[in-house]
Amino acid sequence: MSIVVSMINWKGGVGKTTLTLQLGIGLNKFHKKKVLLIDLDPQCNLSFLALGVESYVDKIYNKNTNSLKSVFDSYFSDTAADAEKVIQKDLVNSRPGYVFKNVDIVLSHQELVLLDLRLARSRKSGKDHKEETGYEIEKLAILKRLLDQLQDENEYDYVLLDCPPNVNLVTQNAFYASDYFVVPAIPDFLSTTGISLIRDYMEKFNKDYKNMHQYAEYTEEYTDTKFGGIIFNMVDENRGGPKLTHKETFNSIKTQHPGYVFDNYITDGDGISVAGSVNLPIFAHEHLPRSNANAEKQARYFKKLADEFIIKIN
Ligand SMILES: Nc1ncnc2c1ncn2[C@@H]1O[C@H](COP(=O)(O)OP(=O)(O)O)[C@@H](O)[C@H]1O
Ligand SMILES: [Mg+2]
Repeated sequence: MSIVVSMINWKGGVGKTTLTLQLGIGLNKFHKKKVLLIDLDPQCNLSFLALGVESYVDKIYNKNTNSLKSVFDSYFSDTAADAEKVIQKDLVNSRPGYVFKNVDIVLSHQELVLLDLRLARSRKSGKDHKEETGYEIEKLAILKRLLDQLQDENEYDYVLLDCPPNVNLVTQNAFYASDYFVVPAIPDFLSTTGISLIRDYMEKFNKDYKNMHQYAEYTEEYTDTKFGGIIFNMVDENRGGPKLTHKETFNSIKTQHPGYVFDNYITDGDGISVAGSVNLPIFAHEHLPRSNANAEKQARYFKKLADEFIIKIN
């Protein structure tokens, strides 16, 4: 069985995309896991980072490569999306001129933003409220239907979902399909005040979906998406640990969410952005044009994070 994990935070710029990519690659590189990355954000940042903007544009606009848009389009045309076609192999860069064999990706598409609105407005009329609730569940289960196709030889160890910075229907599709949700956060006051609220929202989704399933007497049962924890990103260090203000935030979040804060974190540094600018993973630090030492450090922290992730999320 694949383990499906959503990276969720309605704030932008906290590292959802960065963590999805680098952690996914780390799980493959250091733990030999077969990984699928799914880009659900119409800003397509994960797709851009993983293969480069030029290659992405060529795939989507010249070669008509399938993306997540195809998946939602098929919902509207009442057909089933074919996972074989939607999942792209041999596209995620590993080092210059090479791609990963076992890190696959589902690309995003800018028109997903319109699909989200269209999805929210669409309402199939049923013979009664119960049937209509069943239709509402199908709207949430579009992504899950795709992942349900992945069995046996096509199965992944981990499926990581990079969510947009909102909790609209595309994000809800990710949540519905996930075993876990993980919240990336920056250790500052404003970024951390939202975490409890996000957890409350997600708990409410679990409750709502469960009630909907019961009410509609839906064929499958709904299993709760569990809270996988909080991962801190962009941490500043001094003397080998988080600097004092970051340490204080860490401790206060640990008290508020006992057992849910990852011990390992990612430091703030240019390595990540330099790697992004040449579409390479942080682990290819020796191939970067600059900031190699910083990237090497961040790569080490990502390895430790991947080690902890395997233990916590299994
Ligand atoms: N640890 C880090 N150090 C420095 N820059 C980072 C780090 N993590 C992310 N960034 C940069 O911050 C920006 C936002 O990160 P991103 O992963 O896109 O966040 P989100 O997906 O939550 O919007 C990007 O430009 C990224 O390169
Ligand atoms: Mg993002």
